[in-house]
Amino acid sequence: MSGTRNRIEVLHGVNLDMLGKRDAAHYGTLTLVELEVRIRHWSRQLGLETTFFHTNFEGEFVERLHQASQVADGLLLNPGAWTHYSYAIRDAVEIAGVPAIEVHLSDVDKREQWRQQSVISDLVLGRVAGKGPDGYRDALEILARELGVEPPAAA
Ligand code: DQA
Repeated sequence: MSGTRNRIEVLHGVNLDMLGKRDAAHYGTLTLVELEVRIRHWSRQLGLETTFFHTNFEGEFVERLHQASQVADGLLLNPGAWTHYSYAIRDAVEIAGVPAIEVHLSDVDKREQWRQQSVISDLVLGRVAGKGPDGYRDALEILARELGVEPPAAA
């Protein structure tokens, strides 16, 4: 439907391509591709159209955020360790000016002190942490509500 604001870009940052090889106690066992399959499935259920981007390069993450307002109506951000210290990414989230949710697979608030800091938390609509892959579904639900997107009628 034209005029529908339902495009979500999911941005994964540094080391998230290593899911499946990282500490399962914190990050579970899904690979990034498997996680993206789940996110796409949940998105469709909610009436959202999802695109995905991953990079290990901070400048590329920043450049993708610069394009965000042209390609997406909402963002789902897991910048990995950059969350905790990258003011460059913080500035780019602000420049994007698109409603965003911060997501972490692990319970960052109960881990090392340095992980408890997020330099983007005051710019985002919401933050979901410690719920594993299901946290992405929660984040998509928040964005769907924000964008006024209704789930498609059951077939
Ligand atoms: C993470 C948490 C970060 O502290 C960590 O550096 C990551 C992943 C998470 O999803 O739990 O790479 O963002």
